[in-house]
Amino acid sequence: MNANYAPQSITPPLWLLAELTYKCPLHCVFCYNPLNYAQNSHELTTAQWVDVMQQARKLGAAQLGFSGGEPLQRPDLEELVEEGSRLGYYTNLITSGVGLTEPRIARMKEAGLDHIQLSFQDSTKEMNDFLSSTKTFDLKMRVAKLIKQYDYPMVLNVVLHRHNLDHVGRIIQMADDMGVEYLELANTQYYGWGLVNRAQLLPDREQLVRAEAVVNDYREKFGHKMRIFFVVPDYFETRPKACMNGWASVFLGIAPDGSALPCHAAKTLPGIEFPNVTEHSLQHIWYDSDAFNKYRGDGWMKEPCRSCPEKDKDFGGCRCQALALTGDASNADPVCDKSPFHQTLQDIVAAAQSKPTVTSSDKPIVFRTDANSRALS
Ligand code: FES
Repeated sequence: MNANYAPQSITPPLWLLAELTYKCPLHCVFCYNPLNYAQNSHELTTAQWVDVMQQARKLGAAQLGFSGGEPLQRPDLEELVEEGSRLGYYTNLITSGVGLTEPRIARMKEAGLDHIQLSFQDSTKEMNDFLSSTKTFDLKMRVAKLIKQYDYPMVLNVVLHRHNLDHVGRIIQMADDMGVEYLELANTQYYGWGLVNRAQLLPDREQLVRAEAVVNDYREKFGHKMRIFFVVPDYFETRPKACMNGWASVFLGIAPDGSALPCHAAKTLPGIEFPNVTEHSLQHIWYDSDAFNKYRGDGWMKEPCRSCPEKDKDFGGCRCQALALTGDASNADPVCDKSPFHQTLQDIVAAAQSKPTVTSSDKPIVFRTDANSRALS
C-alpha cells in the first residue's frame, strides 16, 4: 500500500467500465486495447459480470459503460443492460455500431439502456473504411438512423489524427445531417495501437490550429444545437492532463478476463499485479489492493511533481504516458514543461511536422488484427 495515502480519504468509484470482450469486427489503427489482446481471449461469464455490477453499485458507482472490443459481440449484452438498469446505473453503450440491428436496439431500449455512443472513423467512406480495415461506413449510417429512430440522444465519437483533421468541417456537417446532439472530436491518445502507429497519426501543429478554428466557427454557428468537444492532443501542451482524474479516484475498469484496472492502459505498466474479480471482492480491490493504491495521492511522486503547486490539479499527469515516454511510470508526465523529459516529447512533435501521408510512409501502418497482436506480443 502507498504508505503516504490515508485510506479513509479514498472516495468510491463513480464510473464502472465493463470491457466485455476484446473481440471486434473492426481493426482500428488507434485502438487503445492492449497489443497482446489476442492472447487474452478468456471472458467473464454473464453471472460474473452481474456480480461485478452489483458489487460496484454497492460501492457507489453510478455510471456503467459497456465497451470492448465491440460489446455487441456478446450475445448477453441485453441481459447485462437490463441488470445494470435494474441496479440503477446510468447505462452507456460504446459501440462501432456493427451488430446493432433493429431487434437488438429495440430489446436494449426495453431493457432500459440510457445512452449510445456511436463511433465513426471519418466523414468519407474511403478513410472510414481504410482506418478500420472494414467496409462499415454505410452500415454505420444506417445505425445512426436507428439510434435516432429509437429516440436516443445522438452522441457521435470520431477519433482525430493527421489523416482526418483536415476533414473536421465535413465531419461536423455529417454530424449535423445525422442530427447529432453531442459530437466528441477526440484526438488520438497514444496508447496501445495508437502508440505503435504514432508516427503515422501524430498531426502537425498547423493542422491542429486549422481544425480548432473550424470547430470554433461551427460552435458559434450552431450554438446550443450541437455540443462539440474538441481537445487538443496533450503532446502539444505544456501541462499534463489530469488522467482519469487521478489514479483510482473515480474510474474502475474491468477487462474481459476480470482484471480490475484503474485506467485503460494500466496493463502496460510493469511490475504491478492487477487483481482479478474472480479472486477478490471489488471492495478489497478498490480500497486495499496494492495496484489501486500504487499511484493514489502524492506519496509516490518524485520531483518536480512532489513540490509542484499544481499537483492537486493534474496529479502528475498520466502514469502510462510517463512510462511510455520516459521508461518510468513514476516520473512526471513529460507533457509537463517542468519534466526533464519534456524535450523528448517536443522532438517527437517536431518530427511529425514533416511526416508523409498514410500511404507513402516508410513505416507501414499497423492494423489491430489477431495476427499483428500475436506478432507484437
Ligand atoms: Fe494509465 Fe493515464 S492511461 S494513467
